[in-house]
Amino acid sequence: MESSQPKLRHFIDTQDFDKRELLEMIELTRLIKAADKQGCTPRLLEGASLAMIFEEPSTRTRVSFEVAMTELGGHALYLKPGEIHLGVRESLSDTARVLSRMCDGIFARTLKHTTVTELARHAKVPVLNGLTDYNHPTQVVCDVLTMLEHLPAGKRLEDLNVTFIGDATNVLSSLMLVCTRLGMHFTHAAPHKYQAPDEWRSWALENCRISGGSLTVTDDPLAAVRQADFLYTDLWWWVGQEEQIPERRAAFMPGFQVNETLFDSAPSHCKFMHCLPASRGVEATDEVMDHPRSIIFDQSENRLHTEKGLLAYFIHPRLERPSMELMTFHQGRVEDFLHSLNP
Ligand code: CP
Repeated sequence: MESSQPKLRHFIDTQDFDKRELLEMIELTRLIKAADKQGCTPRLLEGASLAMIFEEPSTRTRVSFEVAMTELGGHALYLKPGEIHLGVRESLSDTARVLSRMCDGIFARTLKHTTVTELARHAKVPVLNGLTDYNHPTQVVCDVLTMLEHLPAGKRLEDLNVTFIGDATNVLSSLMLVCTRLGMHFTHAAPHKYQAPDEWRSWALENCRISGGSLTVTDDPLAAVRQADFLYTDLWWWVGQEEQIPERRAAFMPGFQVNETLFDSAPSHCKFMHCLPASRGVEATDEVMDHPRSIIFDQSENRLHTEKGLLAYFIHPRLERPSMELMTFHQGRVEDFLHSLNP
């Protein structure tokens, strides 16, 4: 017999979705956010459970996914680094299959991208990628939502110029790919050694060919910000790159630091974005982080709304809702049995 359940889909990479689907996720998020702002978050995931696997620390992602599940009527299990068997003492495929028997979704923040793809290959429930060494797709859906909420007057999404200054991080990869897929105009400015690799550029250029967007990669930060509607930066180094700090600092400082001089070179409506956590005074100064046109905390809040949208988009269609008659029948049967044990 054919299952009536919708096809299983994972959220591993925005490249797996076309423009229409990405905009559907954002529109769903906007609807849920509007409901939330009136204290009416729909309980779309009543009784559902999400296993959240973390191999790295997190503030925004961990809290937003957990609160999102609670507010949608479900439950999230925080499985902190080292807490479960994950490729050690148990294969990733066995872990994925076990979690699929107990939970309605799996979230994973992993060191290696292949860990998430391997979990997804064997899972029978949706797997959501919460950041890997390659990308950060939930972050950038949130970022596009935030840009839409701060659209410059008279511009559409497809008119936007988004400039990312700094290292070719996992956030850069996802932001470059989602912006070009949606038809936006994306610029990456970094010293040559830290620019987006050729493979990412070729995917972004293919996105542009289909969407009408554009991609520019440059080592000139001043030229990169001149048309920017949104100026985005991220950390210059991450955990495990401590030995490279002097070399990286010398490469990026001072030209690629987002300070008042660079921000003042952008149009007067340009908004500043950062996925956080930030090293204040390194990739961006306090003056820019706390500037009236900084929207970093709108971005952070939108992580919560976006996780709700994504969880609802991927998990809600697969939940089976028994009829009231069936629930009453089974409740009665079990209660009759319990009464028979204690007459
Ligand atoms: N932006 C982001 O993913 O933050 P966390 O590392 O705190 O989750």
